[in-house]
Amino acid sequence: MKIIGFSASPRKEGNTAWIINKILEGAKEQGAETSAFSFSDLDIKPCRGCWACHKGDQGCVIKDDMQKIYDALEDADAIVFGSPVYMGQMSAQGKIFTDRLFARFSPRFSPFFKENAVKQKLILSFNQGNPDSSLFQVYFDYTRHMFEVLEFDVKEVPVVTGMRNEPAHEREDLHTVMKDIGSALVSEPFQE
Ligand SMILES: Cc1cc2nc3c(=O)[nH]c(=O)nc-3n(C[C@H](O)[C@H](O)[C@H](O)COP(=O)(O)O)c2cc1C
Repeated sequence: MKIIGFSASPRKEGNTAWIINKILEGAKEQGAETSAFSFSDLDIKPCRGCWACHKGDQGCVIKDDMQKIYDALEDADAIVFGSPVYMGQMSAQGKIFTDRLFARFSPRFSPFFKENAVKQKLILSFNQGNPDSSLFQVYFDYTRHMFEVLEFDVKEVPVVTGMRNEPAHEREDLHTVMKDIGSALVSEPFQE
């Protein structure tokens, strides 16, 4: 099973990266093949809205680092996408990535439009400074729904709060919780 992690934080070694790495660690211990991308390292430009990906036959025409992500996504069984909460939403880097997924959802290119196609599993992880977990719940539920509409099989939406007071790596409780999420991703049976 191939699992790819994406960190949408500009902080390469921040809370988001730590959380994603823990989830991937749990998955790897169950035999998954894991890899990770940090948007802090990548040049991913915003969608131009040219529709070339839907009209032409060459996919997205923006030749930047998103091209290697499109390739990597081709044979991924599961994705772990993590973003810090910025002003109540995912980061700008996360939104740019999400918009660029539009090119993947052309019926012409996407295997996910084929009948009986196996959906890619998704863990959608958020973390925020504020300790109140209910503050942005509406947004998290909305985003889960948005990815489900895009044919992802959203398994979990872990929201880690209180990062303002204690960074993720200092939170003893998170080690096991995050690894268990990764482990469950591998051990759960595939959707038929
Ligand atoms: C520009 C910006 C906006 C933020 N907005 C919020 C917010 O609306 N609510 C919140 O609880 N935390 C907010 N935070 C705090 C981050 O979500 C939190 O520190 C997060 O753990 C950072 O993740 P990282 O270490 O991976 O970058 C914000 C931080 C920044 C830099």
